[in-house]
Amino acid sequence: MAESTKDATSSNQMWGGRFASGPDAIMEEINASIGFDKKLYAQDIRGSIAHATMLAEKGIISGEDKEKIVEGLNTILSEIEAGKFEFSRKLEDIHMNIEARLATLIGPAAGRLHTARSRNDQVALDFRLWVKEELAKTERMLTDLIAAFLDRAEEHADTVMPGFTHLQTAQPVTFGHHCMAYVEMFGRDRARVRHAIDHLDESPIGAAALAGTPYPIDRHMTAKALGFREPTRNSIDTVSDRDFALEFLSVAAICAVHLSRLAEEIVIWSTPQFGFVRLSDAFSTGSSIMPQKKNPDAAELVRAKTGRINGSLVALLTVMKGLPLAYSKDMQEDKEQVFDSAENLELAIAAMTGMMRDMTIRTDKMRQAAGAGFSTATDLADWLVRSVGLPFRDAHHVTGRVVALAESKGCDLSELSLEDLQAINPAITDKVFDVLSVDASVASRTSFGGTAPAEVRKQIAWWRARN
Ligand code: ARG
Repeated sequence: MAESTKDATSSNQMWGGRFASGPDAIMEEINASIGFDKKLYAQDIRGSIAHATMLAEKGIISGEDKEKIVEGLNTILSEIEAGKFEFSRKLEDIHMNIEARLATLIGPAAGRLHTARSRNDQVALDFRLWVKEELAKTERMLTDLIAAFLDRAEEHADTVMPGFTHLQTAQPVTFGHHCMAYVEMFGRDRARVRHAIDHLDESPIGAAALAGTPYPIDRHMTAKALGFREPTRNSIDTVSDRDFALEFLSVAAICAVHLSRLAEEIVIWSTPQFGFVRLSDAFSTGSSIMPQKKNPDAAELVRAKTGRINGSLVALLTVMKGLPLAYSKDMQEDKEQVFDSAENLELAIAAMTGMMRDMTIRTDKMRQAAGAGFSTATDLADWLVRSVGLPFRDAHHVTGRVVALAESKGCDLSELSLEDLQAINPAITDKVFDVLSVDASVASRTSFGGTAPAEVRKQIAWWRARN
């Protein structure tokens, strides 16, 4: 009986079917990060140039070797940017790919670059630089998003719409006021981005493997050259820490949650039943079978992106949980989560900025809905307190009876006759009709942060001065 010949490379019973080759290839596959960490090439080269320059400055390597190293690294930078660099999985990651190419280009001097450092502080540096740049980009994008909201808020400071609680009509508000609620959220997101930049603004390079190094390096010099405020203070923490990645993901997750609430509102508002907004063709699609449809796909996808961004935060928190100090290879799993979240958060912010700027606000539909559902009932109760002198609880009760009457007659509060109202409480006068309109209701809410157009305009001015 012929035994199936096991070729030397697929001897493993468990993995043999999936992998055409043996454990060495599996090791290579699980170990390699070049597939994704090549994104860090520019940061890696910048970091190495700063490191080599400092080594030469401190007399640790010769000026001549430093020149060769810097020249070689610049050549590699242009090779990568021209798409001419061959990345090799055998060389595991971006750090070793670049170092190996440097050796081919400049010979033995390349071996001096890795003096007084380790891949542990090197990867911490590269990734911090990348996250710092991404946070700066996020900050700029949030500023654009806020600007779009401020413009719409200004344009619609007087546009009445129903305000909701429990998604039930509650009290009339203005669309401008609703827009400004999002300005507050995205403003806090931007503040969190700024805090995150501030926290990570310390240079890891020179922590070496974990314990520091006997060479007379100058970490303040490299920190300055790389645009960090100062070097990190504890070498063990430096190579163990991924808080900066976790903070990026937390900030991204909270921002994505904010975006998803708006996305959901846009989905609801753009239904024929609400009809508060009409999306531009640029941010919607048609149906292949139902010709009447216009689907809010961009808003739906922004809503859905929250899933993967929140997932990335939980994934990295779970990777870091219980990891003993200092570096462990587990930490290599940090990058894909951050890269994926960054890409998708950028897309979501950009799509939302575009949607906000483009969408048509249907003021007629908003006004109509603002007056429906007895939305000025609280105004009636407040009027009974102020003009008739009833305690609020009694006023609430009287108003409840008025609402029940309007409901039974199938009309709005403002459509009831004075006789109807006086039958419930004889002290009511025709002055009450002044507060039963939505415009009067909105204009009366002048408390700080309230929905009165004048107040909303003040808040817009406050934000304009800070955006
Ligand atoms: N590719 C590794 C990472 O992303 C680089 C650091 C490797 N360090 C080591 N001691 N194996 O984390």
